[in-house]
Amino acid sequence: MTKKVGIGQSHSKLILMGEHAVVYGYPAIAIPLTAMTVTCRLTPSDKVLVRSPQDPLVTAILTAVSHLKQSPYLTYDISSSVPERRGLGSSAAVALAAIRAVFDYYNQSLTEALLERLAHKAEKVAHANPSGLDVKTCLSDKAIHLVKGQGFSTLSFDLGAYLVIADTGIHGQTREAVAKVKALGHLANPHLATLGELTSQAEEALSVGNATALGNVMTAAHDVLRVLGVSCEKSDRLVTLSLAHGALGSKMTGGGLGGCIISLVQTKQEAEVLAKRLEEEGAVHTWLQKL
Ligand code: MEV
Repeated sequence: MTKKVGIGQSHSKLILMGEHAVVYGYPAIAIPLTAMTVTCRLTPSDKVLVRSPQDPLVTAILTAVSHLKQSPYLTYDISSSVPERRGLGSSAAVALAAIRAVFDYYNQSLTEALLERLAHKAEKVAHANPSGLDVKTCLSDKAIHLVKGQGFSTLSFDLGAYLVIADTGIHGQTREAVAKVKALGHLANPHLATLGELTSQAEEALSVGNATALGNVMTAAHDVLRVLGVSCEKSDRLVTLSLAHGALGSKMTGGGLGGCIISLVQTKQEAEVLAKRLEEEGAVHTWLQKL
């Protein structure tokens, strides 16, 4: 029995440390952005939904529909506060919301393990070789420490500090950025190892509540990501500006070649001032996230 409507929701995520290196087995830390959500609503249609590999939403709907051995006579509607293709996990969040909506529509129960498996399958279409970090963090309400192929743990910390998330306005290109790192071959190895080491230092800084140390490793990670060629001129400029305005650290986040940067400051007031400054200097949107 299908329903007249199927609804699914998910929140988003940001990668604090370890993007790209996580694809090669190094640790990464990501935090859920529970206030940034995607809602997918499915209703019946007399037309069949057509496959579109470039569209993570349609891909996820069809992945779930085919798992349930149904025919996709569906139409969809999405409402989202997650900016698309800005490194904030919109493809993973969209996939999770869509799969939940499909199971709701067909009145089927869905375990978290199956949800994760189907979302991972859909993510492979969106960006080739996903580490699983985005999906895992969009499923969690706690920070995630993940090593691909080995497992994950949740992290609890309260630094009393704030992240300013600033959107360059440039579409991030995760698939291309992942391919760019791969094309470097063995030349990427020392940089990926450095990123892994910096993530371990970030984990230590989080566990002892040392915001200054965390800031330093974030900035060091940005430099390595820049050398790997996955940053962009505008991200570099917003990072430099953040540091010039007293941020404890700053880096790009997510796949890169556009997307967002994150800057760490100690207080909410500093975060508000920095956010305003970054918007004056070309960030198209900013958000604050307590850490
Ligand atoms: C994309 O959000 C993060 C990357 O590390 C790719 C991945 O983890 O699958 C670039």
